[in-house]
Amino acid sequence: MKLHLKNIALLSAVLGASLACAGSVRTQPASPAPDNGTFDVEQLFAGTCGFCHSSGGRAAGKGPQLMNSPRDDDFLRDRIKNGKEGAMPGFAGAFTDEQIDQMVKYIRALKPREG
Ligand code: HEC
Repeated sequence: MKLHLKNIALLSAVLGASLACAGSVRTQPASPAPDNGTFDVEQLFAGTCGFCHSSGGRAAGKGPQLMNSPRDDDFLRDRIKNGKEGAMPGFAGAFTDEQIDQMVKYIRALKPREG
């Protein structure tokens, strides 16, 4: 009988822990990216590239301004993938080709910030 009670206590401890886990998952904010393979380029750019390409790529920082770039898409894609030694890291391993394409589109669509 003693043993039996001990087992119940153990079981409820395990159950309690897993319920607590489920609860914390549920209270996490919903992911901004829908599950269809798209990702938030703007947010990603700000976090990953914004350190060097200021104002979302609208202004020069450590790196050049990307908005209104005179380079062609292939050049931009190549630079994002392979970077440039001593200047910019390559991101081929960090993002898929599709994601890099989306970044090129993002750069092409950049407009000056209003206000
Ligand atoms: C450590 C700083 C740094 C980071 C981080 C960085 N870049 Fe760069 N980027 C540079 C520099 C410096 C250049 C200029 C390289 C050169 O001399 O041609 C550059 C050039 C570029 C160019 C070519 C622009 C042109 O006209 O030559 C593109 C496109 C670009 N970066 C996109 C990105 C993207 C997208 C990211 C994030 C995924 C990123 N960069 C992250 C520093 C950075």
